[in-house]
Amino acid sequence: MCSTEPNKKPFERLPNSVVPINYDITIKPDLVKFVFSGHEKITIQVKEATQTIKLNYREIVISLQDLVVSYGSKKIGIDKVDYDVEKETATLSFKECLPVGEAVLDLKFDGIVNDRLKGFYRSKYTGPDGKLRNCGVTQFEATEARSAFPCWDEPAIKASFDITFVLPADSKDIGLSNMSVLSDSIVDSNRIIKFNRSPIMSTYLVAFVIGEFDYLETKSECGVKIRVYTPIGKSEQGRFAMEVAAKALDYYKEYFQIAYPLDKMDLIAVPDFECGAMENWGLVTYRETCLLVDPKNTSTARKQYIAIIVAHELAHQWFGNLVTMEWWTHLWLNEGFATFMEYLCVDKLFPNFEIWNQFISDVYLEAMELDGLDNSHPIEIAVGHPSEVDEIFDDISYAKGASVIRMLYNYLGDDTFRKGMNMYLTRHSYKNTLTEDLWSSLEEASSKPVQAIMSTWTKQKGFPVISVSTISSSESSRLIKLTQEKYSLTGKLTNEEKNSLWSIPLTAVSKMSNGKLVIDTLFDTREKELTLNIKSNEWVKLNTSAIGTYRVRYDSEMLNQILPEISSLPPLDRVALLSDLYALVQAGKQSAVDLIKLMAVFKGERHYSVWSVLSLIMGKLNHLFSGTEIQEPFKRFGRSLINAEVFPFIGWTPKPDEPYLNTLLRTLIIHRLVVFDDPDVIQNCLKMFQDHVDGKEAIPADIRSSTYRAVASRADQSMDSLLKLYRQSDFTEEKNRIADSLGYVKNPELIKQTLQFSMSDEVRSQDLIFVVRSVALNPIGREMAWQFFKDNREKFISIYGHGALMCRLVKSVTENFISLEHANELEKYFLENNILGAERTVQQSIETIRQNAAFLERNRVQLKAYFDSL
Ligand code: BES
Ligand code: ZN
Repeated sequence: MCSTEPNKKPFERLPNSVVPINYDITIKPDLVKFVFSGHEKITIQVKEATQTIKLNYREIVISLQDLVVSYGSKKIGIDKVDYDVEKETATLSFKECLPVGEAVLDLKFDGIVNDRLKGFYRSKYTGPDGKLRNCGVTQFEATEARSAFPCWDEPAIKASFDITFVLPADSKDIGLSNMSVLSDSIVDSNRIIKFNRSPIMSTYLVAFVIGEFDYLETKSECGVKIRVYTPIGKSEQGRFAMEVAAKALDYYKEYFQIAYPLDKMDLIAVPDFECGAMENWGLVTYRETCLLVDPKNTSTARKQYIAIIVAHELAHQWFGNLVTMEWWTHLWLNEGFATFMEYLCVDKLFPNFEIWNQFISDVYLEAMELDGLDNSHPIEIAVGHPSEVDEIFDDISYAKGASVIRMLYNYLGDDTFRKGMNMYLTRHSYKNTLTEDLWSSLEEASSKPVQAIMSTWTKQKGFPVISVSTISSSESSRLIKLTQEKYSLTGKLTNEEKNSLWSIPLTAVSKMSNGKLVIDTLFDTREKELTLNIKSNEWVKLNTSAIGTYRVRYDSEMLNQILPEISSLPPLDRVALLSDLYALVQAGKQSAVDLIKLMAVFKGERHYSVWSVLSLIMGKLNHLFSGTEIQEPFKRFGRSLINAEVFPFIGWTPKPDEPYLNTLLRTLIIHRLVVFDDPDVIQNCLKMFQDHVDGKEAIPADIRSSTYRAVASRADQSMDSLLKLYRQSDFTEEKNRIADSLGYVKNPELIKQTLQFSMSDEVRSQDLIFVVRSVALNPIGREMAWQFFKDNREKFISIYGHGALMCRLVKSVTENFISLEHANELEKYFLENNILGAERTVQQSIETIRQNAAFLERNRVQLKAYFDSL
């Protein structure tokens, strides 16, 4: 990352000579002119006598008029305000020194209700009269509270909040904030809504919404009033999320043995939204597609994701809101932990989802994919300026964070983990923590060296690969040798990396052990020898159920003992063998032909979790092979593998009472066959689509995405039929599904139209990226999507600023290239046209492209020969 260091913006933390105790904030928005005025009375503690107060601000103007600090009746007036635009701070200098003590800072300010999906922003919706209107919404994480009101915008500077809205007297809008309404009345021809005082909390968790919504309401068993706010006329679509929320709140209360401290929990679907959802205390905001369920239009996978995301945000109410990270370096504490808890909770609420089986493909492998790159970063990473914060909301903080917690959870056991969690949350309630604080509570609860183990996972980038070989074996025992080394895609380790060691909770089962562990130890040295009581002809499988975030490389004798019996292993062990081999092939330690041969062994496989990893690998290989002579033979290989058993088994139509994972399997398999251009499947999709648009028979929501993609890939002259469906639907999930399929058209003229469409008024800026991404995923569209990005670069920056969405866009248009020429081109382009806050993303894309090119180079000839021999 050295090349991008010079781009770092200067940064320093706020001084702590003056801190806030309570913010009394009045906001008067004008949702026609898109401006607001605000008035703050901040109770402050002056800890050291000073003549200045420094706080954060962004894009607001602080008024000098009446700006005072009062100590009772004594008032000290303002002299001047100095703004530092780069550092996003305002320094208020007073006419006299502010003595130590409690005082009230009184200031007025003006701002813009922007359209950047951040801070205090506007979101467009169709009102009950069919006319377009705007609601006002906030999104403050990570550092945007400062653009709605001047504040000490750091997670560790907690205070309580009293929020008040001033609306026009005739306003029929609903006003929401973190707390319940204290009063709603007309005063001096204004409508004044006052909310109750909040607990002590961080600024990034403050939220407010003003607009027209419908809602459903229930009460959780623990007595919390739960409401789901939806677009007008669509309250029923909030029912599923409401039920999940009620159960999840009860679950967490029981699990942590700590009550949810507020009397209400609102969940609201916002038409324009930057991320998926945001955990504001008591008022969680969501994208519509992450909250609303419509039985006819919502797919099983989407409904499951809604359960996951609701569980995630509610986990934050404890982990994040009640106990907050001290600084963004510890962001992973929030996100990794909530990602782990969402699985624990959903597993309890919906055991039939077998959600832990899905964790591997959805979380664990995503983490290892990114963490294998040299341009990955440690879980704990120093961040300074706000522009660096958004970029670490990535698979390392979320997915690797959750994976290492899952490993620890299994190592400690549920009871101990729970005890430690309760200790941690109780001890640090309404305060802030470092990663070490979590470890020390878990260490106390378990009497195990948690800190020593876990710091090897959170302070080092990457993960180990364990090589295992048999040194000697006899009739009744076997001596094995283990070695650990950092996994590397290039095989080039720096001296520091050569020395890195992990404390690995290591497990293994063997053929005769009946699931009982034959190894259960902590492997924290470079090498280790172990004597196992197993026979020479028995297989041994390390890393049971893929609990550990490491890879295993067996010697060929040991591997050859396991492979013939692979189908008798539990699903996650089958998955682990497959994905470990894939990782070794990526790192050039094994040939891609070995991988294809192993995939062929899964001909009779019917388990969703295994297929989801098979499909993931198939997708990656298909991508790598695109445009080469091995793509067609590979697709043929893939089709015949799927058509041999799993597709005839799962078929097109759901069977009554089929296991839940079979429903997901159907979606997955049909999708894969569409991508692999299976002629019969495509034909059937085209027919189903025709029946769908003719109103004869609706396509089941679970296979609509694949069907639309099939239709788009065959669209020759026009995509009007898809666009017509798009315009007819008023359900965002369905609209997104259609828009995302448009990228797969093959005619360059239609690709151009798709890109233009993505920028039109018909597509919200929150969704635009997904359309561009689908074009970039299409080999024919890739170059056009990149060009489109370059042509519209300034416009994208003006739409998204420098945040999570911009990172996502940059990633989408760059990461799919597969040639060295493209890697070089991107490198040059971004050197000359740096995108602030996306530096690491760009480096990761470039490294991925180089890896892909090297992979192809290494394996192409052998693969061709292998496919020819089939
Ligand atoms: N705290 C995040 C939202 C967030 C993300 C704010 C990035 C600022 C920048 C929230 O809890 C979250 O993690 N949302 C996820 C959903 C989750 C289920 C992975 C999201 O928005 O994708
Ligand atoms: Zn989160």
